[in-house]
Amino acid sequence: MDPASYKKARRHFLKSTRDRDNSAAHSSDWSPFRVAEKRFKSKFPPPDLSNVLDLALLDPQRIHEINAGGWAGRPDAFPTRRINLFDSDAKGYIFPHIPGLVVLPSFLSHQKQKDLVEWSLSEHSKQPNETNLDIHYILPPEGVWNAYVAAKSDPSLDLHIPPKSSVVLDAFEQYQEQESGPRQLINNTPADSDNFDSLHNVPKLPAAPSPTAHPSSPATLLPKLRWANIGWFYHWGTKQYDFTKGKIAVHSTIRDICKHAVRAADWNQVFGNDSGDAGDLDWGENGPEWMDWNETYEPDAGIVNFYQTKDTLMAHVDRSEVCATSPLVSISLGNAAIFLIGGPTRDTEPSPILLRSGDVVIMSGPACRRSYHGVPRILENTLPSHMLSTDEDQREWELYEQYMKTTRININVRQVFPKGFAPQQHVDI
Ligand code: OGA
Ligand code: MN
Repeated sequence: MDPASYKKARRHFLKSTRDRDNSAAHSSDWSPFRVAEKRFKSKFPPPDLSNVLDLALLDPQRIHEINAGGWAGRPDAFPTRRINLFDSDAKGYIFPHIPGLVVLPSFLSHQKQKDLVEWSLSEHSKQPNETNLDIHYILPPEGVWNAYVAAKSDPSLDLHIPPKSSVVLDAFEQYQEQESGPRQLINNTPADSDNFDSLHNVPKLPAAPSPTAHPSSPATLLPKLRWANIGWFYHWGTKQYDFTKGKIAVHSTIRDICKHAVRAADWNQVFGNDSGDAGDLDWGENGPEWMDWNETYEPDAGIVNFYQTKDTLMAHVDRSEVCATSPLVSISLGNAAIFLIGGPTRDTEPSPILLRSGDVVIMSGPACRRSYHGVPRILENTLPSHMLSTDEDQREWELYEQYMKTTRININVRQVFPKGFAPQQHVDI
């Protein structure tokens, strides 16, 4: 080896061992949740899924979907229990070590999954609902998806969507400074019925539009669509709902699916006397509420998450809702993902679950509803064949198919307030 090559190789060796030492030092500080996130995020080598629960493996009808995607976990990665479902042919599973978590694999029919993709993009991601793109751009009233579809069919309809900053630069002080990205580590106060008044009255400034955004076509903005708000408006800067902006009703399609999922679960098997550890949960002053959920469950807020295959959702707890035990219903569509669910801090080792298109997850009760959870990995190339266009589809589904090839959609629906409760009335009392 000539001296120059030797020097170069040595530099490379020293640098790589130094990097290794540094990362070893860091990894000892990482919480078990962080370690799991890192493991599943890795592209090279791809993650080992042998400890990931994959309930689709128990359903012979899904074997094709699993094989075509090329990713599979295990049906017995950790202990599960089958529960009865009312009024549904699907199956339900609970987990003795995560009381309150219910997974309903393949709860939604293939057609329903396609309908929800269409609803999420075409009907929902537009005014008066808010999306992450609205922070930075003045979107047309038909929303980014419909503008994209129109331009595809007739290029003369293509738009230059203007950035907000070009219009409102001089009003900049009206905005709250915000770092980029939808999720920040903000230690917000958990909402409850005592602090609701003060949370309600805190003025919430809109997030600052990016000063570097420039006029963009719908086709450029579409891959940047990250979330659309459902129901009560969520304020990312403070991680609290902004009740002063009023409330948009949760669309009946979504509301009906969530109510159906909550009614389908046999809650007595989840939380009743024979449910093991779940019997010891602390439900607070109102006592166990699960017995009444058939009447009291009413979704009023949520978010549609759009993940491109490189996107992740870091460990967090959804604690902005006054109802801290009421079911949160989470619908998966498109590409599959690894979902991690841990405990009250990031120090609980999380359990990894492979979620596929059509699966519904319910997080409920005092422990599970406020457990750390996140999505460290979207599994690329796992769009199931029932999401591809068929001969009967109008040409329009081709665009959905193309978009969904690299996308996972999650519709995450919550109950902020007890049924029938209106904040305005509460404030007036
Ligand atoms: C959320 C969430 C989980 C998912 O939106 O708060 O936890 O499966 N989503 O995408
Ligand atoms: Mn969440």
